[in-house]
Amino acid sequence: MNTQILKAPYNSKQQVQSIALRKLVLRTPLGLEFEPEELKTEFDQWHVLVLYKTVVIACNVVKFLENGDAKIRQVATHPSYQGKGLGSLLNKKTEEILIENGIKKVVLHARINAVPFYEKLSYTITGDSFEEVGIKHFKMFKKL
Ligand SMILES: CC(C)(COP(=O)(O)OP(=O)(O)OC[C@H]1O[C@@H](n2cnc3c(N)ncnc32)[C@H](O)[C@@H]1OP(=O)(O)O)[C@@H](O)C(=O)NCCC(=O)NCCS
Repeated sequence: MNTQILKAPYNSKQQVQSIALRKLVLRTPLGLEFEPEELKTEFDQWHVLVLYKTVVIACNVVKFLENGDAKIRQVATHPSYQGKGLGSLLNKKTEEILIENGIKKVVLHARINAVPFYEKLSYTITGDSFEEVGIKHFKMFKKL
């Protein structure tokens, strides 16, 4: 599959398109919406996208923490493209760019259903489960 991975500028056409994908995959199934204020806080975060032709089919958001770690959040692959290796590809590319930028550790909050996905990518659970958006989550990390 001929895909392209890019880091899209905040408010670019592709970044705005990725919000629709995040909504479809991560929020609508839970009966939730994005608050405009919440999205505005992402102006200084990375928006790493997988494009097929001109369509965003997988995405994540990377937030930089004060302690120097990076937090990968909002990971989503379009339902029609799940299980085809795109989530892994996106993660690999994101980690490569993070390494280029001197980041040594990635942290994330994994929904319980996605824990096996992250374990395959060598992420480790730390601590007890907790609830976010009404779903059981685990903190996970990976040293780069
Ligand atoms: C989790 C998600 C991002 C994975 O993306 P993807 O493009 O489907 O992932 P890949 O195709 O690269 O899968 C990589 C591996 O993880 C496995 N995997 C993916 N999702 C899985 C899941 N929910 N449970 C168990 N294994 C899973 C795949 O089977 C594959 O294993 P393999 O290498 O042995 O074939 C995607 O399924 C998704 O968007 N899910 C809904 C939203 C979500 O839960 N996001 C994560 C929030 S923390």
